[in-house]
Amino acid sequence: MVKEEIKKRVIELKKDINYHNYRYYVLNDPVVSDYEYDMLMTELKEFETKYPDLITPDSPTQRIGEELIGKFSQVEHTIPMLSLENTYSYEEVHKFDKRMQRELGTKPAYTVEPKIDGFAVSIIYQDGILIQASTRGNGIVGDDITNNIRAIKSVPLRLLGETRHIVSLHKNLMNIEVRGEVVMPKNSFDRINKEREQQGEPCFANPRNAAAGTIKHLDPKVVAKRNLDMIVHTIPDPPENFTDHYTLLIELSKIGLKTNPHIKLCTSIEEAIEFCTEWEPARWNLPYEVDGMVIKVNSFAYQKQLGFTIKNPRWAVAYKYPATQITTKLENIILQVGRTGTITPVAVLAPVRLGGVTVSRATLHNADEIARKDIRVGDTVFIERSGEVIPEVIKPVTDNRTGEEKVFILPDHCPACGSKLVRYEGEVAWRCENLSCPPQIERRIGHFASRNAMDISGLVMS
Ligand code: IVH
Repeated sequence: MVKEEIKKRVIELKKDINYHNYRYYVLNDPVVSDYEYDMLMTELKEFETKYPDLITPDSPTQRIGEELIGKFSQVEHTIPMLSLENTYSYEEVHKFDKRMQRELGTKPAYTVEPKIDGFAVSIIYQDGILIQASTRGNGIVGDDITNNIRAIKSVPLRLLGETRHIVSLHKNLMNIEVRGEVVMPKNSFDRINKEREQQGEPCFANPRNAAAGTIKHLDPKVVAKRNLDMIVHTIPDPPENFTDHYTLLIELSKIGLKTNPHIKLCTSIEEAIEFCTEWEPARWNLPYEVDGMVIKVNSFAYQKQLGFTIKNPRWAVAYKYPATQITTKLENIILQVGRTGTITPVAVLAPVRLGGVTVSRATLHNADEIARKDIRVGDTVFIERSGEVIPEVIKPVTDNRTGEEKVFILPDHCPACGSKLVRYEGEVAWRCENLSCPPQIERRIGHFASRNAMDISGLVMS
């Protein structure tokens, strides 16, 4: 192939791979197999190795940039990154609606969408290319996290405007600033915390902290491994040919950006409230954490008319769901033996209703965590539940102590088979090393038959 032909092929490969990334990471609906995708990537990498001058910043091979030495540089936001006014009851939401009607002199339409419990970021595209990303910081100035954002696979390095999907409408969207939430999906959070626990590193308190800690990591390679996601929810300066939030978000999703599909356009506040109620239990099924719903006046003209206070837009409000933390009594601590012999202390609790289910067990992670948090049997403890994630004991309420509480001491023998427990240097977990320990055998069989292993349906483990 002559250089001109190679150049053409490289452009085609980049376009195709970017499009397949969008299908896979944004739409969760791939149109090629992993193998075909890998073949395209390999072909592109080969050309780029041979002709480095053909490497461009929007190439899918360029997601992971250089590690930062020192700190992030600062970025000033052209439009401040504000926060939302919170409400905690439907009565307050009705009041918000009354205020909107009074100020606008009419009943506005509202959009309602999940309030994602993530980490706010802003991304700027110029001529369709991602050129800068920053954190909210103090709302005026944030950190330049461009290299880390580029490591998130659902964030397009180049918008799809110039591909086969071109619509003239989208031309105006090639120079745009978008804002949204970076999240760590709940399953990645569980996996990463498990790994950290095994390696004796401190666990992240929740997915939000994990997302924040990851996006501010100095090494983009770490970000890439942590499987973050990013959902766009705001366009601070909407292009003039768009009249409303709902339509603009739909168009953004067509040019490659991941927006929230669970958005509803409502013609009355009653309909908006009904949608909030519907999502209170449903939010637990989402892969990321949601702590409320955001209600926005849909029309950009009305938004402009309503304007901002120093802290918040006047045209939006967050309705926050009731907390998922509660206190209860820690009645006992029992030990569970895992598949690989890891001993996990489990809290036996006085049953309480929390987030729609009755909770009577919660994880305590490991003996070190119990000691660090000074959790004693008989304590009143705070427990927290976030979705399908196993409830966990957060901390004791020390004011409630009577003196009867008992400090937990990990036995030195396995509760199931009596073997001596061991702990390897640098690990927090204690283990039973007896391969014939009954609960370990049971869990090994369960693991062997499980979906990710042999996938033997019908073998139900107790
Ligand atoms: S709209 C002016 N929509 O919640 C801010 N924000 O305090 C307009 N958030 O800082 C934001 N999900 O980072 C909006 N669907 C959503 C959201 C959302 C989460 C964050 C946002 C904001 C904070 C509110």
